[in-house]
Amino acid sequence: MSRPLDPSPFLKGEQVDQKPKEDEILDSALRPNNWEEYIGQESIKQNIKIIVTAAKQRNQSPDHLLLCGNSGLGKTTLAYLIAKEMGKPVRVTSGPALERAGDLVAILTNLSDGEVLFLDECHRINKITEEYLYPAMEDYKLNLILGKGPMARTMELKIPHFTLIGATTKPALLSSPLRNRFGATFQLNFYENKDIEKIIERSSRLLNIKTEKDAIKIIAQRSRFTPRVANRLLKRVRDFAEVEGDGIINREEAERALGSLEIDEMGLEPSDRRIIEAIIHKFNGGPVGVQALASAVREEEDSILDINEPYLMQLGFIERTPRGRIATKLAYEHFGIKYPSNQNNLF
Ligand code: ADE
Repeated sequence: MSRPLDPSPFLKGEQVDQKPKEDEILDSALRPNNWEEYIGQESIKQNIKIIVTAAKQRNQSPDHLLLCGNSGLGKTTLAYLIAKEMGKPVRVTSGPALERAGDLVAILTNLSDGEVLFLDECHRINKITEEYLYPAMEDYKLNLILGKGPMARTMELKIPHFTLIGATTKPALLSSPLRNRFGATFQLNFYENKDIEKIIERSSRLLNIKTEKDAIKIIAQRSRFTPRVANRLLKRVRDFAEVEGDGIINREEAERALGSLEIDEMGLEPSDRRIIEAIIHKFNGGPVGVQALASAVREEEDSILDINEPYLMQLGFIERTPRGRIATKLAYEHFGIKYPSNQNNLF
């Protein structure tokens, strides 16, 4: 605990010291500024609005909140909206960035009353650091250990009242003590197509891009029901329209650009196709474990688990069984491959 206090475990937000990725810059430019601008996830929005309004009326910080859901669905955006509503800044860090307990102590002791701390990938926080989080969340205090061996002393340090917003793609990996310290848990789901269309329409307006209705539909259809993907595709299509067209995005421009990027009508990308084809051809339709699959398609296990699998499952192209992933009849049909008549007996 004697490490110098160092704000480096902050990723972005008010204390930036790491270069944000392109997607993050784009995300922040397009981030909704108020609840009215936040499209979709209606029930979560209503619930969080009540929690925040009630806390404001009591002049207190809202309870700690846990946001679960696939990447790109707007967990960070919700944290920024909550902070905005409270009139406070957001401090952003993540489980893997908190390598030592001292990293967390540095962040917590540097907070001001009422601030929001966004802890991304909170399932990846290490055990020792996590234990410091418990009293911080519960009683706004830290139990520090000073010195070593028989001379070691504990010291209680009060920290400002804050709201922790934990975000995770894998809530099952959270320990129960951590999960139980959140006042409410919300599961963000894939967006409806009509909401993705509204998001693309809004982003086009903000980025000053002329996008025709037909083109919005095409981009939305290929956006994996995910706002971050929708905004990224919109930007890519704009590149094509500016270089090869007149800057206006119409149906043809959108289809040409997305075709050129090898994104099909269902939003499948080359890595999705490699995964399905590997399950069908190399593993006879499955079941196959994620490790074997990752090495067969030369992808990171984590990116299969976080990016490809949730969407392929949502489409009904793969299913998880206790023995691994299998390709469904729907997947065979989509790829024009005959579904083996005895396939159901094999699993
Ligand atoms: N950008 C990312 N997520 C959004 C949402 N839910 N509403 C509006 N814009 C967004």
